[in-house]
Amino acid sequence: MKYSTILFAIIFYGCASTIKQEESLQSTSGGEEYRPVYHFTPSGNWMNDPNGMVYFKGEYHLFYQHYPDSNVWGPMHWGHAVSTDMVNWEHLPIALYPDSLGYIFSGSAVIDWQNTTGFGTADNPAMVAIYTYHDPVGADSGAVDFQYQGIAYSLDKGRSWTKYKNNPVLPNPGIIDFRDPKVFWNESFGQWTMILAVKDHINLYSSPNLVDWTLESEFGQTIGAHGGVWECPDLFQLTDQNGLAQWVMLVSINPGGPQGGSATQYFVGDFDGSVFTPADTVTRWVDHGADNYAGVTWSDVPQSDGRRLFLGWMSNWQYANVVPTYNWRSAMTIPRELKLKTIEGKPILQSVPVAELETLFGDIQLVGSGVKIGADAFRVDVYGLPDKDFELVLSNAKAERLVIALNSNELIVDRTAAGISSFEKAFSAVHRAPLPAVGIDRLQIYVDRASVEVFVNDGQVVLTDLVFPTEPYNTITYSNGAKVGIAPVKTVSQEL
Ligand code: FRU
Repeated sequence: MKYSTILFAIIFYGCASTIKQEESLQSTSGGEEYRPVYHFTPSGNWMNDPNGMVYFKGEYHLFYQHYPDSNVWGPMHWGHAVSTDMVNWEHLPIALYPDSLGYIFSGSAVIDWQNTTGFGTADNPAMVAIYTYHDPVGADSGAVDFQYQGIAYSLDKGRSWTKYKNNPVLPNPGIIDFRDPKVFWNESFGQWTMILAVKDHINLYSSPNLVDWTLESEFGQTIGAHGGVWECPDLFQLTDQNGLAQWVMLVSINPGGPQGGSATQYFVGDFDGSVFTPADTVTRWVDHGADNYAGVTWSDVPQSDGRRLFLGWMSNWQYANVVPTYNWRSAMTIPRELKLKTIEGKPILQSVPVAELETLFGDIQLVGSGVKIGADAFRVDVYGLPDKDFELVLSNAKAERLVIALNSNELIVDRTAAGISSFEKAFSAVHRAPLPAVGIDRLQIYVDRASVEVFVNDGQVVLTDLVFPTEPYNTITYSNGAKVGIAPVKTVSQEL
């Protein structure tokens, strides 16, 4: 007994000191070895939710929750970057700073084409940001009404911003969680719609001018997942493969996700301009991984393009503040096109990696099992999957293993031995996603140093996870019966 305790202590001490060494190595490198090659990251310090995603004059704008003074969450600003392809990003100066009304929490941006606000002109429409103010003094004093909505506008493609003089435009009705407005122009009704997360439900508002808001309806108190607070909603219409148009509502929830902590659920139904009516009461998840949160879609993508483009924050509130990167914290997911597919009478939200990502990757090379991989950012394509179980392992010389497997009814990602996990107990886990009852024939796996995004059958099931291997995975092994190819990343530009 005594000996086994000593032995345990030696083994345990041995592990602990290795972890310490690894972590101190990472603190000297700032965690740069984990900075993704083709995912968006802030040039430095803290980032969470994507905000104000809007397309205007050839640029995709990505604003984001940002604390420029530290690598942990703090007083929120809106950081800003632009891209012409959602892949190569240019960092721009911070767009919105906290002010006397509070921190700048999540929200959206739209182009006011018809100048309903009067902020712009017909020739130069305003880009308007609609966001939540969070008053830290009110929050600390035990008040309940410390979150309310404000707006700001830009007349120079988002480069400089003016806050509206009579903010807030939507005061707090006495509810602690009252935030994350997503706004869109509702063409059939000739008015703006705002969808807002209110603690355990959604409020829907309308407005003629982005300034005066009327509550239209409430949704969700008795439907969907309720293991945590509702946040960062979105609402848009999609047409399925049979031409059936339906409305899709995204609602992030924290905690209460399928893998613990944060995740995004969705509802499919009808929206009559005032009330959202779900088609059924099923709880569905946009992504079954642990690390895709607060994702919403781009506004004002031209009709000639017609895609519904999505991107999420690739982390989880369970450990976002303590992951082993220090110069910067958090990346966004790869951009994805959302599509609606009806399978056996049931709607499924498909997440398909955007076509622009194709330019990133070199030619795909078929690889045998046991082959060495000479890159730390690549895509793995798996075709012709066998009917029976399939397993693919990415590993390195430190015996770290990331396992991606399929059985007849589940996708499984096992990161229990994938690398560092000591920063949070819940990180070391096996994640499972149910598979639809149709033949699974194709997997795409996007690996970018510290992340893995698995897309089954063109994104009918998606699982996004972070991993922190202490050296890059350099070997791929897989069970027989499938064809496996690897496409390494060519070049990406993201000035830091
Ligand atoms: C979601 C969230 C939002 C909030 C923001 C604060 O991750 O909690 O509800 O606006 O982050 O940074």
